[in-house]
Amino acid sequence: MAAVGSAVGLGNIWRFPYEAGQNGGGAFLLIYLLCVLVMGIPTLLAEMTLGRMAKTNSVEAFRRVSKHPVFSRIGYLGVLSCLLILGFYTVVAGWTFQYMWESVSGGIVGGTTEQFAQSFVDFSTSPFQPLFWTLLMLVFTHLIIIGGVQKGIERASKLMMPLLFVLLVVLCVNSLMLDGAREGLLFLFKPDFSAIDSGVVLSAMGQAFFSLSLGAGVMITYASYFEKEVNMPRTATTVALLDTSVALLAGIVIFPAVFTFGIQPTQGPNLVFVTLPNIFAQLPWGSVWSFIFFLLLALASITSLISLHQVVTAYVEEEFRVSNRKAALIVTCAAGVLTVFASLSLGVLNDLRVGGMCLFDLLDFVTAKIMMPVGSLLLCVFMGWRLEKSALLNELTNYGTLRWRWAKVFVVVLKYVVPILVTLIFVNELGVFKF
Ligand code: PHE
Repeated sequence: MAAVGSAVGLGNIWRFPYEAGQNGGGAFLLIYLLCVLVMGIPTLLAEMTLGRMAKTNSVEAFRRVSKHPVFSRIGYLGVLSCLLILGFYTVVAGWTFQYMWESVSGGIVGGTTEQFAQSFVDFSTSPFQPLFWTLLMLVFTHLIIIGGVQKGIERASKLMMPLLFVLLVVLCVNSLMLDGAREGLLFLFKPDFSAIDSGVVLSAMGQAFFSLSLGAGVMITYASYFEKEVNMPRTATTVALLDTSVALLAGIVIFPAVFTFGIQPTQGPNLVFVTLPNIFAQLPWGSVWSFIFFLLLALASITSLISLHQVVTAYVEEEFRVSNRKAALIVTCAAGVLTVFASLSLGVLNDLRVGGMCLFDLLDFVTAKIMMPVGSLLLCVFMGWRLEKSALLNELTNYGTLRWRWAKVFVVVLKYVVPILVTLIFVNELGVFKF
């Protein structure tokens, strides 16, 4: 459940639709699904295996299993990824609070597409309001990490994550009845192979790793708490299946509406926040639906934020031998500085650019499209080549008590398929070779 909580979040509902919209829809979806199947599930399983084997934080896990000077350092990359992701993820999570607030204060009903678009731009580029929500989100995450409301959040997410799923299904049915349903579904499900280029492939791979929280040490950390009876192949498959279904549902909610209300699918991070108000505005009791939806989305973001924060906190705590509270505070402050700049980079600091990207976009790009794939590649090489094969298989099959017929395929995928595919996709994007 915790692993699903980490995986399901803004990555599925905010990032998936906008990446699909920017990368040609159907073609992107197809490659994304392939990436989840061929690279995502095996990497997820590899992280779980390492985590349960080492039973410690994600940096120490590599060290404990390998004394090699290079391999033992792979974990640092994941910790850094988590910190950088916190930098922009918290900002978007904060936006969900603003939309909850707007649902209550009447901002969602009765607007036109242009008004919704304008009001999102006005809000996200203004200096103070988004910052306020972002920092509130961060404080909230902090309190959960230091244990204050842990029980509460556990109970809340057990109830609310399934509710989010149900609400998405309801919204799907609604979207399927919109005028633009056919066009939207064709966009999402009919691959236009001429739209595929190296950027689309890189984006789809990045989305697969991002959405499953891979290559950042999250699943290593979570699996360190697994019991020895846990059936990891089944757990990994279930997590991937649930995560992917939520993304698909989000796509089916968003794209029919995009074509109905004349929204550009390519508009990037704004997409979902402009489309959803249009959907709620045409529903009876629109502001109530809207409030519930953004509340559930906020919760889904929090369960992901916790996992990001926890990876860094667990590392700081054990590495520098400080208390959990102190470690959490250090991480919250570091993330706080990043989020402030990331949030401002959409407005007043928008001119500060690296490689044409403002800080917000840069953090998203560097983590999802570079660091997480590299982290996953290194992990697979580590598990496939460094680790004794018997140790790997023993852990995977719970010391032979579990029969899993894909075990041999899994080893081959770790050793060859993931490393080669990730490398090819990078090389292709860099333009050294064009495939
Ligand atoms: N997988 C999360 C989501 O889809 C984001 C995340 C990435 C969480 C990496 C933890 C680590 O929202």
